[in-house]
Amino acid sequence: MCGIVGYVGKRDVIPVLLGGLQKLEYRGYDSAGIAYIQNDKMHIVKSKGRLTNLEKKLGDVVAENTIGIGHTRWATHGEPSDVNAHPHTDAAGDLAIVHNGIIENFAKLKTWLQAKGIHFISDTDTEVVAHLINYFDEGDLKTAVMRAIKMLEGSYALGVMSIKEPHRIIAARKDSPLVIGLGKGENLIASDFPALLEYTKDVYLLDDGEIAVITEKDVEVYDSYGNHIEKEHFTIDWDVAQAEKGGWEHFMIKEIHEQPTAMHDTLMARMRDGKIDLSEINITEELIKGIRGIHIVACGSAYHAGILGKYVIENIARIPVNVDVASEFRYRMPSPLLSKEDLFIVISQSGETADTIAALREAQSKGAKVIAITNVKGSTISREADFTMHTQAGMEIAVATSKGYLTQVLCLYMIAAEIGRMRGSLDDADYIDFIENLKKIPSLLEQILRDKEKIQQLASQRFMDVNEFFIGRGADYALMMEGSLKLKELSYIHSETYAAGELKHGPIALIEQNTLVMVLATQTVLMEKLISNIREVKARGAFVVAMTQQRNVETVEKEADMVLPLPDIDDLFAPILAAVPYQLYGYYTAVFKGCDVDKPRNLAKSVTVE
Ligand code: F6R
Repeated sequence: MCGIVGYVGKRDVIPVLLGGLQKLEYRGYDSAGIAYIQNDKMHIVKSKGRLTNLEKKLGDVVAENTIGIGHTRWATHGEPSDVNAHPHTDAAGDLAIVHNGIIENFAKLKTWLQAKGIHFISDTDTEVVAHLINYFDEGDLKTAVMRAIKMLEGSYALGVMSIKEPHRIIAARKDSPLVIGLGKGENLIASDFPALLEYTKDVYLLDDGEIAVITEKDVEVYDSYGNHIEKEHFTIDWDVAQAEKGGWEHFMIKEIHEQPTAMHDTLMARMRDGKIDLSEINITEELIKGIRGIHIVACGSAYHAGILGKYVIENIARIPVNVDVASEFRYRMPSPLLSKEDLFIVISQSGETADTIAALREAQSKGAKVIAITNVKGSTISREADFTMHTQAGMEIAVATSKGYLTQVLCLYMIAAEIGRMRGSLDDADYIDFIENLKKIPSLLEQILRDKEKIQQLASQRFMDVNEFFIGRGADYALMMEGSLKLKELSYIHSETYAAGELKHGPIALIEQNTLVMVLATQTVLMEKLISNIREVKARGAFVVAMTQQRNVETVEKEADMVLPLPDIDDLFAPILAAVPYQLYGYYTAVFKGCDVDKPRNLAKSVTVE
């Protein structure tokens, strides 16, 4: 979750660290800090709150030709405060570390160190690591780090520096991302690519258990036994402009508007001669003939994409799909039920979500071949999965996902079509028609993005709501899970998703005069049933805003208080289109409320802890 950056080179290290932290602020933003060496002294500056507080504290200090590390925090152990902010140091303040992850045995280690007379000043697990490294430091920092990490249980990405070795940073990782940027006469470390792009696109992707020694001229990587290893360069294919707002007020709205391109690129990346080609991810006739079911495992919005995928795959390919939240799947007692005849798919925009990685490993340990749908090439999930389908969404910076989610959905539609074709449940004509519908999506999304005034208007009327409902049936219900999540995480309005037919089994008790009930009504065969559900909530005073294809507007208008029209498209594809108005609704509601849309409270983009 937290963001780490480190720099060794000739530049003024302060703006490099601050710039890197700014690019990583989406990973955590409750406090930040930096350490740098100047005049043989370790300087540590930390501040609770956003990065601007740290910038103010630093003032116009300059530190050229030296090394430094920085951190932006998402609190796990101890409240956000100056003291708990990283970097943490040994007692003398000569050694500084930044850490992302959780040290699970920190309490035991702390007691052990305290018994040796070491005094702690913070509530963090990280401070234990600083003291531990210092305890083992007998003149070689790399060896000290290696000895210390052998005692750690849990996850870590570490950046370590000491005034005794003022020209190098030691980096180490286990179950938390860390990349090393390879510059010319300068080198960097970071939790993620955006912090490096201004300086280099060439990186080493550190693997679990590896340790790196980073100096101005050189980067050396060692395995956990201390053997020197040759790493292959990885080249980032994103550019620095993607990490800028480019004139938009927020990354969120920029990324919502990038969806037509992202969807086009994701589709085209898999089209060959007018057909979808998934042979690269092992979706072949031979494999499909042998499978009995599909498991999809993910977290948050990626899980919601999986639920929508379930409706579509079961509809088109006639094969059972089980969708699980990764944190539940991995701890299913006594162990998750998986058969070798099942296809296993994990979904993760970042490719670094801890629970999803654990689920992937669990599935592999049971002999499953895992297909990953992820947006980040070089991420842990894309490297560890047996096959990877990359979404072509480009860099996603806003903490709440938009284009990441929608491109995941598109991949699942493509998988549905291919499995349907291979199993014969989708005939040739329907298969071609399916692809034609997918091809229409980017331009229809553009149309939705042009006609957004009605959504803005609705948001301006409802931003003071305390409670809203999102309901639908079938694939519409799956989409509403995401619609509701967008509203709650961006605007902090409490919202509930319900399968429309389920409301009367309890939650209808919450409907009062003027409660907003958002209804997605795109599935013709379920329309009559849904209209009954609209009537049930209206009879209890609800204000109903329904979304449906243009061709159904006249019917739905008779029932709802307001109708938001979607362009006409076959029912199966309408939920894809509907995602965007709900993203816009969440966004504008949050803007009217004055919320920090790109960095909603308590959240972090890349959830690298359990
Ligand atoms: C919500 C959101 C999160 C992520 C979830 C999984 O807008 O962004 O719910 O979807 O944390 O993240 P990834 O897809 O990176 O595994």
